[in-house]
Amino acid sequence: MAGDAREPVGPGGLAVFHRSGRAARGAPVTLNGKVALVTGCSAPKGIGRACAAALAAEGAFVIVSDRPGEGRMEAVEALAGEIGGAALALDVTDAEQIAQAVAAAGAHGGVDILVNNAGTVQGAGPFLSGTAQDWEVSFRVNLLGPMLLAQAVIPGMIEKSAGRIINMGSIGGLGGRASFGAYSAMKHGVTGLTKTIAAEFGPMGIRCNAVCPGYIATDMHEASNIRLAEAEGVPLDAMKRRRYEAVALRAAGRPEDIAAAVLYLAGPQGDYVSGINLPVAGGIQLGL
Ligand SMILES: NC(=O)c1ccc[n+]([C@@H]2O[C@H](COP(=O)([O-])OP(=O)(O)OC[C@H]3O[C@@H](n4cnc5c(N)ncnc54)[C@H](O)[C@@H]3O)[C@@H](O)[C@H]2O)c1
Repeated sequence: MAGDAREPVGPGGLAVFHRSGRAARGAPVTLNGKVALVTGCSAPKGIGRACAAALAAEGAFVIVSDRPGEGRMEAVEALAGEIGGAALALDVTDAEQIAQAVAAAGAHGGVDILVNNAGTVQGAGPFLSGTAQDWEVSFRVNLLGPMLLAQAVIPGMIEKSAGRIINMGSIGGLGGRASFGAYSAMKHGVTGLTKTIAAEFGPMGIRCNAVCPGYIATDMHEASNIRLAEAEGVPLDAMKRRRYEAVALRAAGRPEDIAAAVLYLAGPQGDYVSGINLPVAGGIQLGL
């Protein structure tokens, strides 16, 4: 059931929808009263969308966001309608938009759960063809954005002596992978960021973990299959078979598999878990 927006979407402006889904139907939920902010939610088959839906189904009020442009705001607004949350324009590389987003979340009680999901594969590719510009974009989206968002929400979490920060890492951030250039380097940074926050703010009741997806069937994954197939001059099917041979379960995962891990780390079952980088990757062989 989709609700009606009360105010327009814009940087810092929340479009709020009526709550729907499991929480509204009175089923037991674990995240009732919690406010979650999820970045990078516009892709119809994306991990962000699956995480937002899973958190909302457990009773959280979810603020879904993405950077403005190319129909993304319409998509997050529709998602907010579906899950009974709120929609927000938020480019994670823009410090001002981050401040506005956290202020807007403050009207709902502040961010209890931050899911730093937005990411880009720009800058992935053979190391020798990586440009400084691509590396900079990768740094700003994959690492600096999550860091700035964490900085913005942590003071409110300290006040509550509670909070969950869940970063989207990657198996590319746990082992070296050829031809992943900046992406792998930045995701290794996410691994370190996660541990740093967990160590520094654990004493204040804040848990910080990363989920490290393997091959998950989203547009981003398909784009990387196509890129690698073209680079090596092999058919797409052959490239996929070859990649999945390194996965014990011999298949790509679903966004919902990642959302299930996020839910675990966001909810009471993850109470005593902090500082981990959790691979959800079907038993993939990590690189170096
Ligand atoms: N799909 C996989 O196989 C896989 C594997 C490992 C890690 N991941 C990670 O999971 C996360 C989600 O990936 P996905 O597969 O759903 O990809 P996706 O491309 O479908 O989603 C990425 C989202 O991030 C958003 N985004 C990009 N730049 C942004 C910015 N500056 N500000 C705000 N949002 C921005 C995009 O608009 C998009 O909605 C990413 O962090 C990605 O690195 C995915």
